[in-house]
Amino acid sequence: MSRMIENPETYFRQFIPERNDLLLELEAEARLEAIPIVGPVAGELLFLLVRAMRADKILELGTATGYSTIYLASACSSSKARVVSIEKNPKLTERAQINFRKAGLNDRIEIRLGDARDELMKMKGPFDLIFMDIDKADYASVLRQCRRLLRKGGLLVIDNVGFVESDGFNQAIFNHPDWKSVHLLTFLPLHSPEKDGLCLALRI
Ligand SMILES: C[S@@+](CC[C@H](N)C(=O)[O-])C[C@H]1O[C@@H](n2cnc3c(N)ncnc32)[C@H](O)[C@@H]1O
Repeated sequence: MSRMIENPETYFRQFIPERNDLLLELEAEARLEAIPIVGPVAGELLFLLVRAMRADKILELGTATGYSTIYLASACSSSKARVVSIEKNPKLTERAQINFRKAGLNDRIEIRLGDARDELMKMKGPFDLIFMDIDKADYASVLRQCRRLLRKGGLLVIDNVGFVESDGFNQAIFNHPDWKSVHLLTFLPLHSPEKDGLCLALRI
C-alpha cells in the first residue's frame, strides 16, 4: 500500500526554486523588515501562471519592494508586455522602482502610487492576469473592479485567502456566477506565512 512522505514540510523544502542575487537580497530585506513577500515558491507559481496564460497585460495590487512584480514581469515573453502594479506606500514605490531598474525590467513595469480601491476605478483594461496582494480587508471591495478590468478567460490570483479578513472575499468570489474559483490551503516554503490559502479564479 502506498504511503505518504514522512515530514512533508521538511521534504518539500528541497524543491524551493533557485533565485538570482537581487531576489535573494529582497528576501533578506523582507526578513529584516518583516515585509510579507510571496517568497520563491509562490513567485515561481506566478511565473508559471503568466507563461501558461501567455499573459502580457498584467495587473498587480500590492507591490511592496517589487519582489512578486519581478517574477510577473520576467515571465512575460512579448516585447509589448506591460505590468501595472499599485502600491499605496510612497517609500515602497521608490524602493520598488530602484529594484525594477536593477532587474532591467523598468521599461515594462508601471508603478502607480495610490490606494487600489481608488486607482482601479480610473483604469482601463483588459488585463490577462491580475495578482491581488493588498490588505486582506480590502479584497472584497476591489473584486467588482477586478471583474471589470480582467478579460473573459483571464485569471485572478489571490494571495493570503487563509486570513480571517479574507472571508468576505472568499464567500463573494465562490458564489459569484462570473467566476470559477478554487481555494487551496497550501504549504509555501519562505512565503509569509508558510501555510496559507491561495485562490485561483477564472473570469467566465
Ligand atoms: C503583502 S505586501 C505585497 C507583497 C508583494 N506583492 C510581494 O510579494 O513582493 C502588501 C502591500 O500592499 C500595500 N497595500 C495594502 N493595501 C493597499 C491598498 N488598498 N492599495 C494599495 N496598496 C495597498 C501595502 O502597503 C504593502 O506594501
